[in-house]
Amino acid sequence: MKPGILLISPALPDLEHQLDQRYTTYRLYQQSDKAAYLRQHRDAIAGVVTGGALGISTAMMEELPALKIVAINGIGTDAVDLGYARRRGIHVTTTPDVLTADVADLGIGLAIAALRGLCTGDRYVRAGAWGKEALGLAHKFSGKRIGIVGLGRVGRAIAKRAAAFDCPIAYVDHHAHPDLPYTRVDDLLQLARDNDVLILAASADDGKAIVGTEVLNALGPQGVLINIARGKLVDEDALVLALQEKRLGGAGLDVFVDEPTVPPALWSMDNVVLQPHRASATWETRADMGQIVLDNLAAYFAGARPPTTVTG
Ligand code: 8YV
Repeated sequence: MKPGILLISPALPDLEHQLDQRYTTYRLYQQSDKAAYLRQHRDAIAGVVTGGALGISTAMMEELPALKIVAINGIGTDAVDLGYARRRGIHVTTTPDVLTADVADLGIGLAIAALRGLCTGDRYVRAGAWGKEALGLAHKFSGKRIGIVGLGRVGRAIAKRAAAFDCPIAYVDHHAHPDLPYTRVDDLLQLARDNDVLILAASADDGKAIVGTEVLNALGPQGVLINIARGKLVDEDALVLALQEKRLGGAGLDVFVDEPTVPPALWSMDNVVLQPHRASATWETRADMGQIVLDNLAAYFAGARPPTTVTG
């Protein structure tokens, strides 16, 4: 009998097709009565495929007595209780490395878009305003001082890209990186005070908002906040207020506290660029991520250690 795999959210058609070939698949995302569906199939489900932001609740893991592996199609583990998974001997796997370039590209893209007013310019042309109304000047990106929060894989890839734009780079991180030519700063407030653009690239595993009013004020009326990590790293109400009161210069946001809800106050702000959590959403990267999901499941069901398990 093929092992049962629960799909919590939709994946690329090719990945879903491969999963259908190898496993008995259960598509939770298609069900209107999810609780009843889970109760019906709970004993058959040995694996789960889910997204990084969505993860799986502890309550759902508790409902699945045969669960052995949670394959995250992403790198964030903040939406899975890793302690609980370890206690139950459940492997939690991620898709490291393959999405680093895309996420870093979007981080830089958002910074350029916010500073140069790319979306504002696009809207101006589409509205037929060119030649009729004036469009104000934007801000330069090259040479801006960049503060990176979290110098993991993604943070380092952002730094490498920003360096090519002649941007001085500083960072906060749990670890020092003496091999890298960037300035380590002890605290986030200092980093915000000393830089023009603050880019969040940290994991949100401890669930805390690290950017609130104080940090936003330190970044200041010319400062720009970029978030390609997790919405919950930011106090979103404080962010909206800082933008409304012009205590913060702008923002480029791919992630939000309660996705897909985006605070309506942000919709009309020209100094804010919004994306629907899609830093890794390219055909190329999603194909690579899907392959890692398949490799992890295949290894586990063949009796081997899943190659990118974070719990095993
Ligand atoms: C994905 C992410 O969009 O890697 C992550 O943790 O949040 C994103 O890359 C998400 O996992 C959806 O599959």
